[in-house]
Order: sequence, then C-alpha cells, then structure tokens
Amino acid sequence: MTPNLRKDITILAIESSCDDTAAAILHNGKILANEVAGQKIHELYGGIVPELASRAHQQNILPVVAIALKTAGIDKNQLSAIAYTKGPGLIGSLMVGCSFAKSMAQALNIPLIGVHHMQAHVLAHFIDEPKPSFPFLCLTVSGGHTQIVKMNDYFEGAILGKTIDDASGEAFDKSAKILGLPYPGGPLIDKYAQSGNPKAFPFPAPNMPGLDYSFSGLKTSFLYFIQKQLVLNPKFIEENLNDLCASIQHAIIKHLMKKIILAAEQTGIKQIALAGGVSANSSLRNILMEEGQKRNWQTYIPAFEYCTDNAAMIAMAAYYKFVKQDFEMLECAPFAR
Ligand code: KG4
Ligand code: ZN
Repeated sequence: MTPNLRKDITILAIESSCDDTAAAILHNGKILANEVAGQKIHELYGGIVPELASRAHQQNILPVVAIALKTAGIDKNQLSAIAYTKGPGLIGSLMVGCSFAKSMAQALNIPLIGVHHMQAHVLAHFIDEPKPSFPFLCLTVSGGHTQIVKMNDYFEGAILGKTIDDASGEAFDKSAKILGLPYPGGPLIDKYAQSGNPKAFPFPAPNMPGLDYSFSGLKTSFLYFIQKQLVLNPKFIEENLNDLCASIQHAIIKHLMKKIILAAEQTGIKQIALAGGVSANSSLRNILMEEGQKRNWQTYIPAFEYCTDNAAMIAMAAYYKFVKQDFEMLECAPFAR
C-alpha cells in the first residue's frame, strides 16, 4: 500500500540512540542523503561509554545535519517535518537527538515525528526495491535486540520470539572481547571467519523452547573453552583465530536460523526479511539466501548502509508516520522502550 500524496514531503531525520550520530534527508519516499559520524573513542574501552557517547553526539550533530542538507541540496526552509529516534537507546544519547529535533521543529514551525528504533530497522526494507508486502517475518538482529517480528502493516506487528538474555550482536561483541578483539567485534569476527573452518570447534547450540533465543550460555561456554585452552597453550588464540571466529559465528547463526525456520513453518509465511546491525554479517546473509532458495522463500536482505544504525531508516519510518499525520506534541515528546 503506497500512500497517495499530493504534496511534497521532505523530512530531516536524526538517529542518535547509541554511538552513531546520523542524519538523513528524504523527499517523497526517496533518500537524498544518508550521513553518519561514528565514534572511535569507544574502541579504547572495549564497549560504549554512555557519557562519552552523548558528548560526542553533541559535537557531531550540527555538522552531520549540515552535511546531510548540503548533500541533498535542500534548504532547511523546505523541510516538512523533523524526525528523531525516540528509543530504545542510551538516554543521554537519545536526549541529544530529541532536543535538537524538537528545537529545530519549533524554530521552523513544522511537525516533529518520533520513531521507534526497532520499527525503523524493519522499515528500512521500504527504502529500496524490492519491498516486501504484508505480512512478512523479520529477523531483527542488533546490538541490543534479537527478535522475530511478524509485520502485518507498517506500524502493526507482533513479536513472535525474542532473546531472553543477550542479543545476537552482543554475543558477537562479547565473543570478540574474549578473543582480545576491539569493540565492536561483530565485523571483525565476520572478517576473520571468512578464512576459518566453522566446524573446527563445535560449540553447543542453545536449547530454547519455542521461538525465543538465548545467547548467554553460548558466550559462557566459549569463555570457559578459551580459558582452558590458554592454560595448555598461551598462543591458542593467535594460532586459531580464524577457526575460533568461524566456529562461534557458526553457532550463533545456527541458533538464529533454527528459530526463523520454525517461525516460517508455524506461520506459513514465506517472505522473510533480515534487519539490524548483525544483518551486515556476510555468512548470515548467505545462509539466509541459501535457506530461502531451498524453502521457496522470498528473502529481503538490506543494503549494507541500512543494516547498522543509520538515519535513512528513521526517515523512511517517519515518512509513513507523516502520511498518517502521526506527530509528537512539542511540549512532551516521551522516550520509547
Ligand atoms: O543495529 P546496530 O548498528 O545497533 C543497535 O541497534 O544495537 O547493531 C550493532 C551490532 C553490534 O553488536 C555489531 O557488532 C553488530 O551489529 N554487527 C555485526 C556485523 N556488523 C555489525 N555482527 C556480525 N557481523 C557483522 N558484519
Ligand atoms: Zn540499531
């Protein structure tokens, strides 16, 4: 269902839920600019330091928005609305984006649109063709969430399964930390795994009933295994890095795939999408496509720039909210969980 719109809609969207300061410009459903400033500082600490993240957002937000407007060739007076991520995320980081968006909407006297971060990850599938039609299943895998969502409409969905402890992105990042790799470790595990044997070290697949996930046991067994091996051979990690990355990645993906296959069987839905930062993982993308071919699914895998946190997905979700005239009140724009 593509909305029938008579008037031009131009939206500036801001994403600041975690450690990326991002701004995007959308014009009538098309992304004209998608800018992001990452924060290298957290690499030093092996994870995100919330206080440093909000300070960096404060420094980055103005230049990132200015670059997005310039790239899109849009003057701020042409904007129809300002969108921002209203959660979930780090409260200090969210507040920077929210305050900026609110002030700009107030100054320009245009509507403010609050977007749920996880909904935006799913709606990133509506940026480019081919777009899924409803209903579809989305395996949403990020640093803070792991969910199987049945999407019935743009803003109507049901969570069929979710992690009861760590998110899959956390499982990647914590395993990487155990191996002495810097934060965020997911992309590095992906890189080293490409030259490794996924069956070199078999890690036990989590045994969860139904469609829920659990990753904390897998992480602990990985930790204990490495600790034991290091006692026998202090060079164990460096001598086996590729195989260790390939093996832990294989265990995480096996668990992710088992439940999405079950969800597809239970619902009879054959349109399967992947979203969130972990959807940038090369092996997960390949395995989902291969499984899709075997099972006659239509698979939807986002372009790399729309996998990890970005403002284009916020803009896309905001576009559908604009169509519904679903705006925030400027006096009170609450955060979302
Ligand atoms: O969606 P996202 O950018 O932020 C959250 O909403 O959390 O996801 C970040 C997560 C991190 O855990 C990061 O390690 C993981 O996505 N990630 C990856 C890859 N690229 C990012 N995990 C595995 N393989 C990748 N290539
Ligand atoms: Zn995210």
